[in-house]
Amino acid sequence: MEQTLAIIKPDAVRRQLVGVIISEIEMNQFAISAIRTLRLSLGQAAQFYKQHREKPFYDSLVAYISSGQIFVLVLEKENAVQEWRGLMGPTDPAKAGLLTLRRRFAIDIQLNSVHGADSPSTASREIDFFFGERK
Ligand code: CMP
Repeated sequence: MEQTLAIIKPDAVRRQLVGVIISEIEMNQFAISAIRTLRLSLGQAAQFYKQHREKPFYDSLVAYISSGQIFVLVLEKENAVQEWRGLMGPTDPAKAGLLTLRRRFAIDIQLNSVHGADSPSTASREIDFFFGERK
C-alpha cells in the first residue's frame, strides 16, 4: 500500500469543511493511518514550502498556510499519491473537474482547501516533516 500526505488547509478549516473532506477521503477508499491538527509557525511554513521560495506567491503562501489551524493526514491506498491528486483536482480550482474537492470547496488558486504530495518521494519527505517523531 502506498502512502501520501494530505493537508486540510486553513481556508477549509475556517469554513468547517473538515468533516465533509474526511468523509470524501473515506468514501474514496483511502485508509487514514495518521492524523494531527496544528498551526504552523511562519518558519515551519517557510520550510515546508521551501521548493517554492523563488515563486512570486511564496511570501503570501507562507502567510496563508500559517494563518490558522490545519489538519494533516497520512492516507493509504494503492497508488495513493496519484489517487489523492485526482480527488483534489489541479491547483487552480477553475481548471478542476466538477467532482473534485478543489472545484467544490476551494476559494481560489492559493486558498485551495487541500494539499497533496506530488510524488512518492515528496510524500515520504512530507510525512517525515509532520510525523517524523514516530520513527
Ligand atoms: P499546494 O498544492 O499546497 O502547493 C503549493 C501551493 O501554493 C498551492 O497548493 C497553492 O496554495 C499555492 N499556489 C500555487 N500556485 C499559486 C499561484 N499562482 N498563486 C498563488 N498561490 C499559488
